[in-house]
Order: sequence, then C-alpha cells, then structure tokens
Amino acid sequence: MVPTKQRAAIYTESGVAFALADVPKPGPGQILVKVVAAVQNPVGSIPRGGRQNAADGWSFEEAAQLGIAALTGLQMPHQSLGLPSPNEPESESGPRRDILNWGGASSVGQYANFDLVRGLGADEVFDYRDENVVEKIRVATGNALKSAIDAVSEGKMMQRVPAVIGDKGGRLAIPNIPYENTRPDVTASFSLAWNLLKLESKGKWYADLLTKILATTNVKPNALLIQPNGLAGVKDGLQYIAEGKVSGQKITYRIADAPE
Ligand SMILES: NC(=O)c1ccc[n+]([C@@H]2O[C@H](COP(=O)([O-])OP(=O)(O)OC[C@H]3O[C@@H](n4cnc5c(N)ncnc54)[C@H](OP(=O)(O)O)[C@@H]3O)[C@@H](O)[C@H]2O)c1
Repeated sequence: MVPTKQRAAIYTESGVAFALADVPKPGPGQILVKVVAAVQNPVGSIPRGGRQNAADGWSFEEAAQLGIAALTGLQMPHQSLGLPSPNEPESESGPRRDILNWGGASSVGQYANFDLVRGLGADEVFDYRDENVVEKIRVATGNALKSAIDAVSEGKMMQRVPAVIGDKGGRLAIPNIPYENTRPDVTASFSLAWNLLKLESKGKWYADLLTKILATTNVKPNALLIQPNGLAGVKDGLQYIAEGKVSGQKITYRIADAPE
C-alpha cells in the first residue's frame, strides 16, 4: 500500500525545515521509489537518495552515497582529464601515468581514486596542510606530472594544485567553478554530476560503469556519519558541513529515524 505522506526536508525562506509532504503520484513511464537512506553533499546541500546497483554487502545507508560524489569521481578522470575508463583496453595496457588526487579523503576524491577503486591504494600520500607540499609533489613526480584532480577546489589551497603540474603543463579536473587557475599551461576542466541527469548525456554510461566497477572491484564505501533523527536532523548536518567538520565521512540520514 502506497502511503499518502512522506517525511521530507524542505527549503523554506528561513532555511531548511522538516515536514510531512505529499507522496507524488508517478506519471506515465515513471516509477515511485521508496527512499530508505539519503546522504548530504556540500553541493546543493540537500540530502539525496540515488538509485544505483550497489556492491554486494553494502547497506542501504552505504549505497545512498553512490550518487553525486561517486559519479563526479568517475567523470573527473575520464571526462575532464581524458583518461581511459576501466572499461577500455588502454587502461590495462597503456603506459603508466602519475595522477595526483588532491583531496583524496573527500567523498569525491575517494571515488576519483582509481587506485582505490582497484583496491590497490595510492603509491604516495602527501599532507595538503604541509607548507612544502607543492615542492614535495614536484620532486616525487620528477617535475613531470601531467594530470591532477582537485577533488576539493575550495579556498586558498586551490592555487597549490595547478602548481604541482610539471613544467610542460597538463590537465586539471575540477568539481567547482569559478577556479583560480594560476597556470596558463594547465587546462582546468569542470565536471558537473547534475549534467548526467539530462537525457542526451552519458548518464547511463557512467551509471553502468559505476555498477561494473562495484561488481568487479573492491570499492569501499565512505565511512558513514549517521545523523540522529533522520531528515529532521538536516539542519544540524548543514551546520556540520558549514563548520568544515566533515573528515573522510559521509553525512547520512535514515528516513525512518525521523518522527512521523
Ligand atoms: N561538480 C559536481 O558535480 C560535484 C559533485 C559533488 C561534489 N562537488 C564538490 O566537490 C568538493 C568535494 O565534495 P565532497 O563531498 O567530496 O567533500 P567532503 O567529503 O565534505 O570533503 C571533506 C574532506 O576534504 C578534505 N579537505 C578539505 N580541504 C582540503 C584541502 N584544501 N585539500 C585537500 N583536502 C581537503 C578534508 O580532509 P581532512 O580529513 O584532512 O580534514 C575532508 O576529509 C566540494 O567542493 C563540492 O562542492 C562537486
């Protein structure tokens, strides 16, 4: 039996509020999906429940994160940097490439990390807070790095990421615009997950790719930070993000946790 009301977090003039909203009636060619869990992203800052075939053993709460961040994490190396996807033979036999994943602990960064996706782990890890991080990366890459992903693209650190690309220039994938690119010889390409919702986009291609990666590799979900009270706790979740407290976790809401 389909309920007539559902728990919802809605925008109001005074901010986000919890409410009981009408369950929409699906139109022709549409289906009604029961959302069990939703996650919060810094972008758009409203929890979203996505549909994606999750890996075996993932809970609904873990599977809820397979939307925006995971798709952006795939778009950035493939669409923005022009690297082969794991579906393409070149990814197996092509030359070894160094790719810097700046912000590897962020949600987008965890999914953009092809090494992580392949269950191998990064070859080298650098602390972005280290004053000498740019120099250390340039030394480690022999000043020849061509590809980087800035999975954070925020604040003063932004200028550091183009600076790690080698002297011959290269490409940078970014999830946010405007971007302060200090290097004319570095092309910064923006990927937007929302664009994959358009019918004419490659949304299905990326969703299929993600499904395949999940089925064939040992991808680990981001650690969950379950907010108490379900969607009634969204205001607190927004505050948590605004205070910059998210560290390697995904803010997650169980819909049934909110009061009726
Ligand atoms: N274009 C799109 O479609 C799209 C989609 C999703 C997200 N985004 C954007 O992508 C960015 C990341 O989103 P997210 O959900 O992945 O973020 P997130 O998980 O909330 O990011 C938090 C993590 O980022 C790390 N971090 C913070 N500042 C950093 C810096 N300057 N350098 C390196 N690491 C840093 C933190 O590290 P510590 O643990 O060390 O504090 C923390 O672990 C946001 O700007 C978001 O707006 C865009």
